[in-house]
Amino acid sequence: MTDKHWDLQTRAIRAGRDHSGTALAPALWATSTFHAESVEEAGAMASDLTNPRFYGRHSNPTVSDFESAIADLEGAEAARAFASGMGAVSAVVLGLCSSGDHIVVQKQMYSHTLLLFQAACPRFGIDVTFVDGTTPGAFAEAVQPGRTTLVFAETPANPKLALVDLEEIGAIKGPMTVVDSTFATPFGQRPFDHGVDLVVHSATKAIAGHNDAIIGVVAGSEELLAWIRGFAVLQGAVASPFDALNALRGLRTLPIRFRQQSDTALAVATTLEQHRGVERVFYPGLASHPQHQLAERQMDAFGGVLAFDLAGGLAAGQQLVERLELVQLASSLGGPESIITHPASTTHVGLLPEELEAAGIGPGTVRLSCGLEGPDDVIADLTDALDSLD
Ligand SMILES: Cc1ncc(COP(=O)(O)O)c(C=O)c1O
Repeated sequence: MTDKHWDLQTRAIRAGRDHSGTALAPALWATSTFHAESVEEAGAMASDLTNPRFYGRHSNPTVSDFESAIADLEGAEAARAFASGMGAVSAVVLGLCSSGDHIVVQKQMYSHTLLLFQAACPRFGIDVTFVDGTTPGAFAEAVQPGRTTLVFAETPANPKLALVDLEEIGAIKGPMTVVDSTFATPFGQRPFDHGVDLVVHSATKAIAGHNDAIIGVVAGSEELLAWIRGFAVLQGAVASPFDALNALRGLRTLPIRFRQQSDTALAVATTLEQHRGVERVFYPGLASHPQHQLAERQMDAFGGVLAFDLAGGLAAGQQLVERLELVQLASSLGGPESIITHPASTTHVGLLPEELEAAGIGPGTVRLSCGLEGPDDVIADLTDALDSLD
């Protein structure tokens, strides 16, 4: 248990220890099941989906500790962990929506979340309206009263850091409102303070923070989480206790990692803006970001991820990612290693050209996740590779 008066950074150190006994570090409960002393006890264990000592697909003590740590840090009543960020996203969508329902989402978002809305939802008879999340009022205008069940936003959005106004999302009444806050973490923004109903994270990223876990989480009210848990035990995309342990380990250093990565990203973004090989840099912390004022209003730190468009297009994108020596070509973000992706040839490779354009991704767009190396080394590596482009 943490003290509600403690600073968020202090709570990150102490949250989620209910099942660790006297150990300072979180304990790993590597078990799939627990025995009962009586039929009566077994019945009680089975009927409570929050009971961490029944069966691993329902819950697990280490996973439960991770969930309560996230609820604590986000300021939510409860949370449920999943086998991945997509496990969390799909549980929210498929657990809360039924055939005939309508969802409003933005068109700028992580490619697989987008595919879930574009391809899976129509198969289940769920109607989806895509809006430009950066246009003021776009989400609210697309809501169909009595029919829209869910409003789903991602901010900052993958991969070009487009922002959605959290105050606008929180003000929407009727549908449940969801924010994928992966890029921001609980230390970059506070969606619940704006009235949002559910917060989703790919904790695979900065929360676990060491590129050694695949895990997702949803936080919100007890009432909504009861629905989500009910679906989750059928969906079966349960978080592994080992990944929950790694995520709990990551949480303790998240505030300082996030701050360091935000500082590095701003330094890198500022340097890249001056380079002739770079057409445009996208980072909410830059004054040139079209939503910089919104970023300053709703974000406490801007995070370690930025994107930029190369003047030389596709060829320059492919050359750059291959010529870097310190920064590695890899998917994911938020870890200690600086990594770069070229969405047009990797994460967004399945999208049609018009879908790529709609998501604001150009042939020369690259996304960079700044790690925890010395910032000057990251900048030097990028500058050397950029200088070498044909
Ligand atoms: C914003 C966002 N949400 C969700 C996901 C999916 O997370 P996972 O890979 O843990 O399933 C990602 C993955 O990159 C992401 O960037």
